[in-house]
Amino acid sequence: MKYKPEDLTRLPRSVEYKNRMVHLIDQRLIPHEFKIIKLETVDEVAQAIKTMQIRGAPAIGAAAAFGLALYAETAKVESKEEFFNGFYRAYEILKNTRPTAVNLFWALNRIKHLAEEHREDSLNEIRQLIVEEAQKIADEDVEANLQMGHIGAEILPEGNILTHCNAGSLATVHLGTVGAVLRVIHKEGKLKLLWVDETRPVLQGARLSAWEYHYDGIPLKLITDNMAGFVMQQGKVDAIIVGADRIVANGDFANKIGTYTLAVLAKEHRIPFFTVAPLSTIDMSLKSGKEIPIEERKPEEVLTCGGCKIAPDVDVYNPAFDITPHKYLTGIITEKGVVYPPFERNLKKLFE
Ligand code: MRU
Repeated sequence: MKYKPEDLTRLPRSVEYKNRMVHLIDQRLIPHEFKIIKLETVDEVAQAIKTMQIRGAPAIGAAAAFGLALYAETAKVESKEEFFNGFYRAYEILKNTRPTAVNLFWALNRIKHLAEEHREDSLNEIRQLIVEEAQKIADEDVEANLQMGHIGAEILPEGNILTHCNAGSLATVHLGTVGAVLRVIHKEGKLKLLWVDETRPVLQGARLSAWEYHYDGIPLKLITDNMAGFVMQQGKVDAIIVGADRIVANGDFANKIGTYTLAVLAKEHRIPFFTVAPLSTIDMSLKSGKEIPIEERKPEEVLTCGGCKIAPDVDVYNPAFDITPHKYLTGIITEKGVVYPPFERNLKKLFE
């Protein structure tokens, strides 16, 4: 591959496991403060995922994997049975943090299956295997992003790109899915301007994407979500690339609320619309997007903005994600190549 992660970003990894602690960039503080927090218990990791100190599908998966590594290394137990009882408790606590991004379940199950396969090994061997597997999950995520970056750069048109939410380095272990593609096309001089949607209600676009892409010198303009259609109508968008929290067997996918609106607008304006995601985001067990569980979050996220009350105390509906039907998708950029329609047939081939 042409570029290494350090050629593409000045940011450190967003989540790491060091000295029996999960280190992560506290994303609730950005852009006001850059702080790495160090978590010492499974409950702290689960809380960080729930409160979105760490967020973004692959980053959540890696954090949960490191949560199990933390348990494996620190559990004070008398027997293997006691170890496994505690392991299943930790697994459940981490599994019940957020429901939509499939990477969380993918990472937890990968470690659970491995531990169960090695049940007959010594306790020390099992502890070590779990830690190594969690680290592998994180390293493979970086490698997959690097591949997606190079693959995406080959097919995207030169010009202006629009993105939604944050599928950048902060949303993954390093570089990002969309973030890797943007970083490679920027490096190659193909990215004229990045339009960043602010992404209400939690403002991942304004707070996180604008911060991390600006930090890496990518030319961008921030817009509110309701400006995207007008910018497209003015002919100022050449392609749209977004992340995904779960892609199902027919190509429908869940991503940050507002993605569906963009996809419909892209079709009206004949703008190519891609999602960028690793295989760990693809859930072949679900047939259509209707089966994806959609997380509903607290009303406060809608009733406030940046900590300020902006509405009276009325009823609120706050789905964190929406489903984009596959008919709006031009293609899915993965680490194994770009998947084009018919998605049902072509997604299957990725796993053969
Ligand atoms: O609620 P969030 O911030 O975790 O939602 C994140 C998104 O929707 C991202 O676009 C998605 O996880 C892809 S991250 C590479």
